[in-house]
Amino acid sequence: MTEPFYVTTPIYYVNARPHLGHAYTTIIADVITRFYRMCGSDSFFLTGTDEHGDKIVRAAKKENTSPRLYVDQISAMFRRLWPELNIDYSQFIRTTDSDHIAVVEQILQKIYDAGDIYFSKYEGKYCFGCERFYTERELVDGKCPDHETAPETIKESNYFFKMSKYQDWLIDHIHRHPDFIRPERYKNEVLSFLREPLEDLCISRPKSRLKWGITLPFDADYVTYVWFDALLNYVSALGYPDGEGFRKYWPVAQHIVAKDILKPHGIYWPIMLKAAGIDTYRHLNVHGYWNIEQSKMSKSLGNVVEPLELKNIYGLDSFRFFLLRDMTFGLDSSFSEKALVGRINSDLANDLGNLFSRTLTMAGKYFKAVVPAADPKIDADLQLGLKSAAADTVSAYEAAMASFGFNRALQATWDFIGRMNKYIDVMAPWELAKKDSSRKQLEVVIYNLLEGLRIISGLIYPVMPQTAETMQKHLGLDPSEAFYTLDTLKSWGQLTPGTRLLKSIILFPRIEVKKSSQPATEEGTPETGKSDRLPEIGIDEFARVDLRVATVVKAEAVPRAKKLLKLEIELDEKRTVVAGIAGNYEPSELIGKQIIVVANLKPAKIMGILSNGMLLAAVDKDRVTLATLDRPVKPGTRLR
Ligand code: MSP
Repeated sequence: MTEPFYVTTPIYYVNARPHLGHAYTTIIADVITRFYRMCGSDSFFLTGTDEHGDKIVRAAKKENTSPRLYVDQISAMFRRLWPELNIDYSQFIRTTDSDHIAVVEQILQKIYDAGDIYFSKYEGKYCFGCERFYTERELVDGKCPDHETAPETIKESNYFFKMSKYQDWLIDHIHRHPDFIRPERYKNEVLSFLREPLEDLCISRPKSRLKWGITLPFDADYVTYVWFDALLNYVSALGYPDGEGFRKYWPVAQHIVAKDILKPHGIYWPIMLKAAGIDTYRHLNVHGYWNIEQSKMSKSLGNVVEPLELKNIYGLDSFRFFLLRDMTFGLDSSFSEKALVGRINSDLANDLGNLFSRTLTMAGKYFKAVVPAADPKIDADLQLGLKSAAADTVSAYEAAMASFGFNRALQATWDFIGRMNKYIDVMAPWELAKKDSSRKQLEVVIYNLLEGLRIISGLIYPVMPQTAETMQKHLGLDPSEAFYTLDTLKSWGQLTPGTRLLKSIILFPRIEVKKSSQPATEEGTPETGKSDRLPEIGIDEFARVDLRVATVVKAEAVPRAKKLLKLEIELDEKRTVVAGIAGNYEPSELIGKQIIVVANLKPAKIMGILSNGMLLAAVDKDRVTLATLDRPVKPGTRLR
């Protein structure tokens, strides 16, 4: 039986309105939960708000209101925002919930009774933004690296949690579970913290200074707040200690956080669990920051981006897609509307949108909007490896998603979309439609395209649930049935011939950026599948494409493929490439020509021939003109 799945986001402070950074973490939690549901896992997704502590009291004061009214108001803003972003959480927890408070009291008492909490005097540098003490070593120019403010010196008697006692246990646990904290860079960061002796954690405030917290069960003059309170939400929400949810989901717990709260989650939390006699979580998944011009987006820096504004301008699925496609999980990413528009126009409007509308337009025109039957006898010849490419894509996607490699999963999906678009170009269904004798071929080609779209609709579902549903409805499927399950994506040929399709639509209108004003949307041109401009890329992205000079040494037609030629070319070694240039060049005129090839393109089987590289050509409607060089060059020379 498939294991259950449990994922959490940080519970957000209610001293500020939600922004793009909070939205990102919560969207990836939604995406990973949808993915595990596709895999058949019983999944639970927890989010919520962190409502105690000094900074909440300060924020409420600034608004001339009480902490209670203030936290109700901001917490409701978070709770209301998530459904607007199609975030389907299972539970929304607040640290002011009475069930949660009861669990905090119970665990505090347990750890106190075990002798791991003691009373002592302390003086240290405290950052109110992070709600924790900083060691001198962690400060940058005497300031908190995250909030860029100088911490305050605090001197008072408080309760402390003996973290130092568990330091060796934690180091050992991390070594024995190499993917406990991932990606690896953050595991290394935690291990590097642990190379220095751990200081014990201050877990209380005297009520004379702060009342807005949970009263310590063993000293009514003190409250606990923030970390000792907040981290416990992950178990209190599941009904610790006896709840069914705790029994089922806690053994598979995974947390998602950004790097700002790595230390509390990578060090305090596992040690708290150990001291309380609770098994630790399975994975801590740590992502980087969304930056605006090199600085972290945050309320204190005053550079926040509003998620709802972006949703309203660009559409929800496009926004979700951009966030997942543009950030490599673990690394920082720079947010800009220009990059967002670039992605929408190239990946969504051009690649996916055009594939979808071209295919449905052709199915409408040639088969009266009904799924044609594919004759298995000729299907094998006309597959061009599409079926095995789909299976490879689903496997690559599954592995990438399970390790939070969202951008890799989307890249694999888009490679397949590229392949489908190429399939249309090579098979040229409009040519097949001209002759009755090629009707059977046309049926196979359109069936394969529709089937490929079904698989794509499933792969994009976790990230773009609305678009997936629209695509499925157009393919004559009932999205309420299990068409998203990974199993159905693994088997080719699920579409039933005779099923009615809906009329072609434009999934993602292109966004035209007017020089001085807001972006405006424009209708695309679905049948052509061409749009001129791709988004800007950096020199490093360009440098990954290995362009080489090659000399054609042999050329011949490919049987049963009107458009294809098989070329033998010489770079520094001999290779075979299959190119869709047959209508434009005779094999004999190609011999000796020097052409340009993408030498590091993954080899692909086309009509049973392994094509190793792709040549460059200008494609204008049906006219293809090879890119050549204006004087002879040694074969294999790199183009830069
Ligand atoms: N209340 C604590 C967490 C307690 S969890 C037991 C807290 N709250 S917070 O409101 O400051 O949220 C921090 C989290 O918000 C980050 O870890 C991250 O998930 C998200 N982000 C906030 N700003 C972000 C960026 N600029 N970029 C990416 N994620 C960001 O810490």
